[in-house]
Amino acid sequence: MKILRTVKEIQAYARDMKAAGKTIGLVPTMGALHEGHLTLMRAAREKCDIVIASVFVNPTQFGPHEDFDAYPRRFDEDCEKLATVPVDAVFHPEPAEMYPEGYCTYVHVEGNITKKLCGAQRPGHFRGVATVVTKLMNLSRADEAFFGQKDAQQVVVIRRFVEDLNINVHINMVPIVREESGLARSSRNQYLSAAEKKAAVILSRSLQRAKEAYSFGEREPEKLKQVVIDTIATEPLAAIDYVDIYSFPALQPITTVDGQALLAIAVRIGTTRLIDNVILGKE
Ligand code: PAJ
Repeated sequence: MKILRTVKEIQAYARDMKAAGKTIGLVPTMGALHEGHLTLMRAAREKCDIVIASVFVNPTQFGPHEDFDAYPRRFDEDCEKLATVPVDAVFHPEPAEMYPEGYCTYVHVEGNITKKLCGAQRPGHFRGVATVVTKLMNLSRADEAFFGQKDAQQVVVIRRFVEDLNINVHINMVPIVREESGLARSSRNQYLSAAEKKAAVILSRSLQRAKEAYSFGEREPEKLKQVVIDTIATEPLAAIDYVDIYSFPALQPITTVDGQALLAIAVRIGTTRLIDNVILGKE
């Protein structure tokens, strides 16, 4: 597995692979890799000749009071995991390589898809994501890029700017990978104490309850949301940031669930903010 640390190195690697007629799959991550990330890698491995992973804790997508400094960084362990897939190359730049002195260009997805859910609570977050993902797509010359449904709004935003900016890449969305308890895998789960980890199961359980209500015929968004809110209220360590439901993938408000709908939640367990979601009308 090749380790690429500079813009020049990844550009040369991508140019060589393209010249050899290979298709390139890109899997962007911020590292502290877990089974969710590795599932994306395997999906890329299945579909593409060459798999490039990136491990980069992207400073531009963190707010000033968020966990950029505390975010887990364990590149050696990540490389061991990536080698088991295996991926062909990992791009691991320093922040100054991606945002050198004088850097001033950003991709800003306007319109309401970035103004709700995580976009409403994390100003500037999707601008940082769209900017770094655009750069990673350009650098890797990817034909296919892989993202998790865990961050469903992120997928919607990425599909939007890829279409708007005519980037020649196909976006694949991979289902959420969970622990046995139901807890969605996340690099941030490492912040949880044992008691908090137990409490965090309330996120997936609440969505499961709403899914059951949906399968019994409940179609009113407010009632489905209430099922989630009531379930989370039973867990004293949990505090809701948002519980929301929108059409998917348009992310428009709905008065009844008649097509696919994204039921998405953000919940704080202690100081750790966790997200989860389910797409109703899909499974
Ligand atoms: P990160 O949180 O490291 O996630 C990298 C990718 O893994 C994302 O596409 C995310 O949706 C996916 N992922 C995380 N947990 C998952 C799970 N339990 N099941 C399935 N997929 C999962 O998302 C980011 O990094 C960044 O915003 C990034 C796109 C890399 C841009 O900096």
